[in-house]
Amino acid sequence: MPVPVPTQPPRKVKAVPPPLPHPVGKVPAAPQHEKLGASQCRGCHRLQYDSWAKSGHARKALDCEGCHGNGSEYAKASVMKNLAAAKAAGLIFQTAAFCEKCHPTADASFLPQAHAHRKK
Ligand code: HEC
Ligand code: HEC
Ligand code: HEC
Repeated sequence: MPVPVPTQPPRKVKAVPPPLPHPVGKVPAAPQHEKLGASQCRGCHRLQYDSWAKSGHARKALDCEGCHGNGSEYAKASVMKNLAAAKAAGLIFQTAAFCEKCHPTADASFLPQAHAHRKK
């Protein structure tokens, strides 16, 4: 025997008040993407680090995070292993337009020269 299903009484729709503006100084914090420093990348990316450390970029203080974005949210193995998650957490891959600011002739073929890479 099918059990009779009680019909729902009509729901009263409450008028939703408009959201209050956040009081000054109390805006909820977005993820901060703090800078960690190249030494924090070194432990997991020794090859890239050693090549960068000898480069003109290191001398001019263009470090890992200057190109890849601040690492506080992505620089954990659990996040880094998932490229989409790492990007969502702030990992950046620059395009040639970025290099062009200092290397006017840069194009996409220049990108791999940023530093040494792991073998594919
Ligand atoms: C706890 C270890 C760890 C730390 C710390 C870490 N990474 Fe990674 N990173 C990984 C792993 C694991 C991968 C996955 C792919 C690989 O093995 O290269 C990765 C991948 C990457 C990639 C390539 C993503 C791809 O799939 O092509 C970049 C770029 C990167 N890391 C930059 C950085 C930078 C910059 C820092 C410092 C701010 C950093 N990582 C700190 C472990 C780490
Ligand atoms: C803020 C400026 C700046 C940006 C942006 C920049 N570089 Fe550089 N790059 C330098 C400086 C400074 C040197 C050292 C030049 C020297 O020693 O005479 C250098 C040197 C190099 C060299 C060594 C050979 C050469 O041409 O001098 C390569 C390769 C290189 N950069 C690649 C890149 C790539 C790839 C990008 C983009 C992903 C990039 N750079 C972005 C400043 C920059
Ligand atoms: C001048 C900008 C620049 C700097 C500085 C820089 N990177 Fe990169 N990095 C790149 C670019 C561009 C790529 C992608 C290269 C390509 O397209 O083949 C890359 C790729 C990577 C990758 C992917 C795997 C690989 O080996 O290709 C890792 C990991 C990485 N960088 C880590 C680092 C770490 C760690 C530092 C600091 C020690 C650093 N990068 C500094 C521009 C930079």
